[in-house]
Amino acid sequence: MALSVNSVIHNQWSTRMAFMLAAIGSAVGLGNIWKFPYITGEYGGGAFVLVYLVCILLIGMPVMMAEILLGRRGRRSPINTMRELARAEKTSPAWRLVGWGGVLTGFLILSFYSVVAGWAFAYVIEGAVGSFNGLDGEGAGALFGDLTDSPGRLLFWHSLFIIMTTLVVAKGVRSGLERLITWLMPLLFVLLAVLVGYAMAAGDFARGLHFLFDVNFDRVFTVCDEAGVCTFTAEPVLVAMGHAFFTLSLGMGAIMAYGSYMPHDASIGSSTVMIALADTLIALMAGLAIFPLVFANGLEPGAGPGLVFVSLPIAFGAMPGGQVFGTLFFLLLVFAAWSSSISLVEPAVAWLTEDERLSRPKAAAIIGGLAWLLGVGSALSFNVWSGEEYQVFGKTLFDIKDYLTANIMLPLGGLAIALFTGWAVGHRLPESELALRSPTLFRAWYFTIRYIAPTGIVLIFLNAIGVL
Ligand code: TRP
Repeated sequence: MALSVNSVIHNQWSTRMAFMLAAIGSAVGLGNIWKFPYITGEYGGGAFVLVYLVCILLIGMPVMMAEILLGRRGRRSPINTMRELARAEKTSPAWRLVGWGGVLTGFLILSFYSVVAGWAFAYVIEGAVGSFNGLDGEGAGALFGDLTDSPGRLLFWHSLFIIMTTLVVAKGVRSGLERLITWLMPLLFVLLAVLVGYAMAAGDFARGLHFLFDVNFDRVFTVCDEAGVCTFTAEPVLVAMGHAFFTLSLGMGAIMAYGSYMPHDASIGSSTVMIALADTLIALMAGLAIFPLVFANGLEPGAGPGLVFVSLPIAFGAMPGGQVFGTLFFLLLVFAAWSSSISLVEPAVAWLTEDERLSRPKAAAIIGGLAWLLGVGSALSFNVWSGEEYQVFGKTLFDIKDYLTANIMLPLGGLAIALFTGWAVGHRLPESELALRSPTLFRAWYFTIRYIAPTGIVLIFLNAIGVL
């Protein structure tokens, strides 16, 4: 029985290309185009970007290889993969908590992700009806403010996005969406390239470039309040690491679930390199498009989650053909978010359909319904519940979920995955599953997953809570 369920799920992706598309579809999303610019703006630019890139290389990529290899060896949902591998390797059954934690994290992420995807949705319409035409900074701020002030509009788009996600997951066959992504991702890339070109011509490109790539650690390790009083903080390093996990879809089992569908002849190492490169390139291009416009229009780089939705419409409103271009851009952003969000629920749905013998539509409906409910709180964070009486440490429910998942829960999940792969299971499992061509390469990866990645994560945690 279990076998038949398995074979149904596990025959979907026959080629390496299909795995790559799904993984890139998961990785490239709002994290690259919405979140990366906004946190880079908040945490001061260049040095933050450098820390983020180092985290991708030394923590993100090794952990991604670990997630894929565990998934492919386990061939089940992350919860059961962890349980089975722990049993086979005779280590503690508690490792399956990694799978459970991932399910919870995926929920929490989806419940604010869908609200931001909803903004992109709303902006498809705004673009089409010409709301961006001739916008200045103030007008763009007002347009965004009008949207977030309206609980009705936010809830409408949030609901639509959750329904879209649930439908794809319910169908179980992602091939339709994946085929679409084959076209849409390159198109998104081209549109971003055009936007970077526009930012070069019309924005303050030099300043944008300096902001993104001039490494000035003072800015990362100090924060200044409105009165100009600056204090030391290690928080940006935590946020940079958290974002490395978030943008690569790591630490909650999404990539593990996708890895369980990966064919055996595909190389985990080179897939990881390609995924990380594509993801990083898209994020950097988004930064290169946005910051020159931010500076040229007198906007605040640290404006927060609305940054992209305020800066880009100004450009669309001023460029020739901007009405079509802007509409298309936000439409592609919705698609990118869509192919990411399905991976957020995949671990939970895979588990429900495997153990509880629920049908995929039922499982998807349950998960989608719960995420929708949780997401109502995220939507209301911008209006009804935006007041201080609803905030904790100056953060709204939306901010808390965004912060907690990316900066605490995903790195904790990643730490557990690194420790499990590096210490709990012995070296034979990863060695045979990775099948790297050169033994030196394996040793380098093994050293990183055993020592560098876990130590890095722990040090950054200790640093952030002020122990170090
Ligand atoms: N990586 C996606 C983005 O950048 C978001 C995402 C999808 C994600 N699945 C995930 C983040 C799993 C963490 C874990 O938009």
